Amino acid sequence: MENRVVIGGQWGDEGKGKIVDTLSRDVDWVLRFQGGANAGHTIHIGSEKHVLHLVPSGVLHEGVKCLLGGGMVIDPWSLRDEILALEQRGIKVRDRIFIAANAALLMPYHKRLDELKEEGRKRKSIGTTGRGIGPAYLDKIQRTGMRLGDLQLPAENLERKAIEMILSANELLSTHYDAEPLPSRVLAEELVVLAQFIAPMVVNPYEVLKGVRQGTETVLLEGAQGTLLDIDHGTYPYVTSSNSTIGGALTGSSLAPRSLGEINGIFKAYLTRVGNGPFPTELLGDQGEALREAGGEYGATTGRARRCGWFDMVAARYSADINGLTGAIITKMDVLDSMPSIQVATSYEVDGEPLPCYPVDGNILPRCRPVYREFKGWEKPTTECRRLTDLPANARKYLEFLEAELGTLIVGVSVGKDREQMIWTNTGVTT
Ligand code: GDP
Ligand code: IMO
Ligand code: MG
Repeated sequence: MENRVVIGGQWGDEGKGKIVDTLSRDVDWVLRFQGGANAGHTIHIGSEKHVLHLVPSGVLHEGVKCLLGGGMVIDPWSLRDEILALEQRGIKVRDRIFIAANAALLMPYHKRLDELKEEGRKRKSIGTTGRGIGPAYLDKIQRTGMRLGDLQLPAENLERKAIEMILSANELLSTHYDAEPLPSRVLAEELVVLAQFIAPMVVNPYEVLKGVRQGTETVLLEGAQGTLLDIDHGTYPYVTSSNSTIGGALTGSSLAPRSLGEINGIFKAYLTRVGNGPFPTELLGDQGEALREAGGEYGATTGRARRCGWFDMVAARYSADINGLTGAIITKMDVLDSMPSIQVATSYEVDGEPLPCYPVDGNILPRCRPVYREFKGWEKPTTECRRLTDLPANARKYLEFLEAELGTLIVGVSVGKDREQMIWTNTGVTT
C-alpha cells in the first residue's frame, strides 16, 4: 500500500476526519502534521460520534499508531482531556499515541492572548477558534516557545522554565493589554503533573518513522484546516497560522517528499467557511440557510454556524495545483439531494473584467464576482449508493464536471456521515 496525504481543499471542515478514519484501516501510522485544537474532526461509526481535536483521526482503528507531528501546536491540557475521553469510551490509546518532541507547546497564556488580540482587532477580527493557535506559532517562529520535549525535563527544571515563560507572558498581558496576570505557580505546577501523563508518549519522530522511510511501514498524513486557510497560500490575513497545504506535510512530519505517495484533496460538494474573510460564492439568504440545515453546518470546535455557499471551482483548481493533488474526494454529496438546482462558480470577474486565475493578493478576492454554471439537481437520495452506477444521472453529471474542471481524478465520493457511506473508484467518475 502506498503512503497517502489527506489535505483539506477548501476552508476546512470538508469531512477530513471521516475520510482519514475510512482510509486508515490498514495503515501503520496516522500522522497529524500541523495545527492544534483549532481542528474539529468528526467521525460517525453507527450510532457513535467522536470529535477529535488533537489526536489523529486514525485512532479509532485498534492497530493504528498515531503520531502528533512536529508541525503541531499542542495544548497539553486539551490533549490529556481528549485521551481520557477516548479511554472512557473503552478505546485503548495510551500505548499507540506518540508525540513529536519538536512539536510546539501551547500554554494557557497563548489562549488568553488569542482572545485579547481578537478583541483588539474589533471589526477586523479573524474570527479565530480562540484556541491560542496564532500566539503559539508566533512563539515558535520567534524562537521563544517551549516544545513537547521540554515535558521530559526533571520536574524542578520544567517548573522553573514554565514559571519564567508565564511571567514573561504576564508582562505582555499587563503592559500591552492591561489584562490580569495568570497564576504562574499554579499553572507551572499543573504542567509538571501533566508532564507525568504526557512525557512517556513523547518521541523523536525521526526515530519512530524509520520504518516509513525504509518502506516497511505505511503512513497516512492527516492535514487539518484547509488550503484556503494556509498561512502562505490562503486568504491572508483571514487564515490560520500554519501550512495546511502539502509543504506542511513535509516540514510537519520529518518525512521526505519521496515518502509521500497519493495526495488526496477533500472537497465538499458545496462550500463552507467559519470565521471572517472573503467568500465569493457565499449564499446569504434562504439558500445558505437551507445548505446549513441540510449539511448540519455548525462548527465541531466552537459550535459556530458555518457560512455556506456554492462550490467554487476557481479556488478548487488553485487548491489542486498548489498541492499537486493525485486525487480528489468529494464529500457531502447527499446534502445536495433535495436541491432543485446547483451552481458552481467557474470563473471570477473583477470590475466586469475576467480574472485569469485565483488571486493571492488579499485585496482582490473581496472584489471578485463569481460567474456561475447551473446544474439540474437530482432530487433523489444518494445515501444508500455504494457504486457510481447507483448514483442518479444528474449527480454523475455534476461529479463528471467537477472532475474535468479540477484536472484530477475523483477517487471517492462520500454520501453520508457514516464510515460506510462511501463510493470508491480508482479510475475516476467519468465513463
Ligand atoms: P473536518 O474538520 O474536515 O474533519 O470536518 P468536520 O468533522 O469538522 O465537519 C464535517 C461534518 O460533516 C461532520 O459533522 C461529519 O460527520 C459530516 N460529514 C462528513 N462527510 C459527510 C457526508 O458525506 N455527508 C454528510 N451528510 N455529512 C458528512
Ligand atoms: P478543521 O481541521 C474550519 C479558521 C477559524 C478562523 C481561522 C483562524 O476542523 O477543518 P485559528 O483558531 O486557527 O487561529 O483561526 O481559521 N479555522 C478553521 N475553520 N475548520 C478548521 O479546522 C479550522 N481551524 C481554524 O474559524 O477563521
Ligand atoms: Mg472540522
